[in-house]
Amino acid sequence: MAERFIPALGHAWLTRFYDPVLRWTMREATFKSRLVAQADVRPGHRVLDLGCGTATLTILVKRSQPDAEVVGLDGDPEVLRRAAAKIAAAGVDIALSRGWSDRLPHEDGCFDRVVTSLLLHHLSSEAKRRTLAEVHRVLRPGGQIHIADWGQAQDVVMRGAFLAIQFLDGFATTTDNVRGRLPAMLRDAGFAEVRETARLRTIFGTLSLYRGERPR
Ligand SMILES: C[S@@+](CC[C@H](N)C(=O)[O-])C[C@H]1O[C@@H](n2cnc3c(N)ncnc32)[C@H](O)[C@@H]1O
Repeated sequence: MAERFIPALGHAWLTRFYDPVLRWTMREATFKSRLVAQADVRPGHRVLDLGCGTATLTILVKRSQPDAEVVGLDGDPEVLRRAAAKIAAAGVDIALSRGWSDRLPHEDGCFDRVVTSLLLHHLSSEAKRRTLAEVHRVLRPGGQIHIADWGQAQDVVMRGAFLAIQFLDGFATTTDNVRGRLPAMLRDAGFAEVRETARLRTIFGTLSLYRGERPR
């Protein structure tokens, strides 16, 4: 089980720099806005942001659809403290909880959407599989997962750029991403309508968006 986790920037002491690093180096506004648009959250939906970190995406989802119930979960108490402060400053109603992606504390079928950004490359292959199985369990039939994470490099420049992330977060957890295995892992977990919907060039390599659906 994932008791030991990789913090947002690979090391706990770097977490304070996470938001500026993402904002200035990762086209964060672009890819998170695209993920929110792709998720198409409707009034009355229940949405989980899995591995919510400092809650930038969580807040964007809530602002995109104030009549949805949005919750965030992360394993790191320090990052959750930062998330809670941002949520309070934003004046939005979002519940946060501490927990592990591969044993979610939620009931079966209770979410319409699960969004997750930059979590999966922090997990071993086995933890990715358990996590996707858990997401499948907590989504209602017809519910959708929307993912932003490192994907298969478009070219040798993007492959080279991704080495920085591999040195920071580890090769063991990032190899599935850069080899383009996430869609197959989604299908293996029982998701249908699995697609890579976008590929963005960043200074740290190719960032991909994916979607999948729990069959009805
Ligand atoms: C790179 S950060 C991404 C944060 C946020 N989703 C974003 O896009 O800015 C990865 C987050 O996943 C969390 N995390 C890593 N492993 C986890 C696990 N097994 N369960 C829950 N959270 C985990 C880390 O604490 C960290 O906040």
